[in-house]
Amino acid sequence: MNIRPRRNRKNAAIREMVQESRLGLENLIFPVFLKDGANIKEEIPSLPNIYRWSIDLLLKEIEGCMELGIRIYDIFPAVEDHLKDQTATMSYDPSNFYLKAIQKIKETFPELVLMSDVALDPYSSDGHDGLLRNGKIVNDDTLPILAKMAVAQAQAGIDIIGPSDMMDGRVGVIRSALDDAGYTDTSIMSYTAKYASAFYGPFRDALNSAPKSGDKKTYQMNTANKSEALIEAQLDVEEGADMIMVKPALCYLDVIHVLKENFATPVTAYNVSGEYAMVHAAAQKGWVDYNAAMNEMLLSIRRAGADGILTYFAKDFAQSLVE
Ligand code: PBG
Repeated sequence: MNIRPRRNRKNAAIREMVQESRLGLENLIFPVFLKDGANIKEEIPSLPNIYRWSIDLLLKEIEGCMELGIRIYDIFPAVEDHLKDQTATMSYDPSNFYLKAIQKIKETFPELVLMSDVALDPYSSDGHDGLLRNGKIVNDDTLPILAKMAVAQAQAGIDIIGPSDMMDGRVGVIRSALDDAGYTDTSIMSYTAKYASAFYGPFRDALNSAPKSGDKKTYQMNTANKSEALIEAQLDVEEGADMIMVKPALCYLDVIHVLKENFATPVTAYNVSGEYAMVHAAAQKGWVDYNAAMNEMLLSIRRAGADGILTYFAKDFAQSLVE
């Protein structure tokens, strides 16, 4: 045997020198949930250690996370049911608590990067990402609402718009609405290949945003498809996306890989709520080691080709670096 691969694994220094993928805090985006009110820190049973915060306590939570080195956050609103309607009117009302929170966070921490969610579901009485009419999700009439939502978020000071709705043509419509309103520096990270996945359950618990009827399969992608992700990516890049996202991450590492190989645009991945919850559940039973499983998952997403990872593990990962 003149070739023995084990020689490059014989101690930590050699292993680390030849390590092909790396994971650092600079790769991570921390999703946080916001609720209207004050002094609220509400548990989400299916998302251990993740909370619905009111803005006052969220500012303190973010301050702590900034000290740990987390610089990019994605904020989602948990809206009371009685404020939801069929057309998601609240989503672009400048007095809404989400837009006010964006403004407050950016005022308090101008150096932090803040990303938003653009889709109807948190504000929709139907719980769908687009407008529901006669049992169908209508694409083109949804677009102006998404554009108004994005402009309102840009006005509040958001750094990155995150369209998660999967309507056709939305990136282009949002880009031109932002530009027309003078927000040429506001970025778009598009949910490019977003699959109709079983792993969004805990997130929908967090926002109480599960669809009231049907499922999301006429707009989110078929979990069996990969080539179709190339079509979605090409459209998003041509329409002006600055970054393209694959979601979920772990069942779709091949999709992350194929987008990274085919596009120069940075690729991100959303390590979603169900993926996080699974590790917690197994660790609680003593079936996997929490930190080891977290590191392996996040590193595998980097190895597949993701530049950035949206993950509920962000704070635990940051903490594991200090320990
Ligand atoms: C809503 C949205 C969802 C997630 C992010 N934005 C849920 C859905 O499409 O039903 C899921 C994130 C997660 O599970 O962590 N447009």
